[in-house]
Formats: sequence, C-alpha cells, structure tokens
Amino acid sequence: MGLKLGDIAPDFEQDSSIGRIRFHEWLGNSWGVLFSHPADFTPVCTTELGFTAKLKDEFDKRDVKAIALSVDAADSHVEWIKDINKTQNTQVNFPILADEDRKVSDLYDLIHPNANDTLTVRSLFVIDPNKKVRLTITYPASTGRNFNEILRVIDSLQLTDSHKVATPANWQDGDEVVIVPSLKDETEIAQRFPKGYRAVKPYLRLTPQPNR
Ligand code: BEZ
Repeated sequence: MGLKLGDIAPDFEQDSSIGRIRFHEWLGNSWGVLFSHPADFTPVCTTELGFTAKLKDEFDKRDVKAIALSVDAADSHVEWIKDINKTQNTQVNFPILADEDRKVSDLYDLIHPNANDTLTVRSLFVIDPNKKVRLTITYPASTGRNFNEILRVIDSLQLTDSHKVATPANWQDGDEVVIVPSLKDETEIAQRFPKGYRAVKPYLRLTPQPNR
C-alpha cells in the first residue's frame, strides 16, 4: 500500500552521492521533494535531474530541499552527475540516494512490478516541515516530469497553509484565488481579504492573492 496524503514520510538512513543521509535529520525544518527515477545514465532522467539542478534558486526561495533516488550505487551516481553537469550545463546541487538494497523503495512503494520489477518508477513526494506527505505523483519511465508544476503546487500549498484560500485550475502565483467555502463570516472575510471579493456563485468567491 503506497503512501497517502497526510501520512508521515517514512524516515530512513541510506547512502547517497554525498555520503550517508538520515532523511528526517537532513530535511530539518525545510520542505522536501523526494523523487525517484528508473536508472542512471538514461536520457530522460539526465534531463530531469539537470532541470531540477537549474531550479535551485526557486527551491531555495521556497525553503525546499530536493533529493533524488534510484537503485544504482553511489559511485555510479557520482560518475553520472559529471555527465549531467556537462550535458545539461548545470551543477547538480542535491544528493541522489543510492537505494541498492531497495530500503527506501520499499518504504515509499517506488517499484511497481507490473511496470518493471527491478527499476523504480518516476514518483515524487512533496513533504512539509512537519514531515507530512502533501503531494504524490507517479509518471511512467517514458515521460519526464514537469518540475515547474511541482513549484506551482508548492506555491499553492504554502499559500493555502497560511490563508483561508484554495487555488483554482491552472492557477499561477499572483492570480486570483478562491475563498474556502467553510469561511462564511463576512466580518472575518473583510478582515482577511481587504481588497474584497467577487462571488460568481455563493460557493465560488474569487479574491486577489492575499500575500501580494
Ligand atoms: C530514461 O530516463 O530515458 C528512461 C529510463 C528508463 C526507461 C525509459 C527511459
């Protein structure tokens, strides 16, 4: 049974491209993005890890630490990182877990035997500072993920954690947001959303993004 939203992301100790990592200790009070890929020295994975490295400033702005994983060995990761840096014109600035014994793969259900019985799928978990799983996605080996979408979800999570709002379809940072349906008190609404709101329907109330 895979991890569900709201579950505590399992802690573990595992080797990586930068040495041994104790996961919860390594996360500290930051947000985390743990993502698995099928194998080192493969084309789609090379682009995914290169793109993630280029997003370092965006991850830092949001206090997010990225960590990748496959079942390859740490020395393989270290060799592959040289290729990623060269071909993707970047510097990999996050660790890659070397899950040779599949300890983490088992904890996070990263091997889907009916897709491939030895390689990890492209799963990704967003983990909040309380170590709760806030987003899970799983893509097939043949499809690289959209890491801009991961940033968009993190923006939504960080915004909606601190304001009584939710974000509509295709929302981007700075767009209008919706007032949560449970908030009915007009005095509180006026305090929380001094720029006002427009009610398309009683249950669909749009307001300018409150932290802007
Ligand atoms: C890739 O990263 O390109 C890849 C890995 C495994 C299967 C298919 C593609």
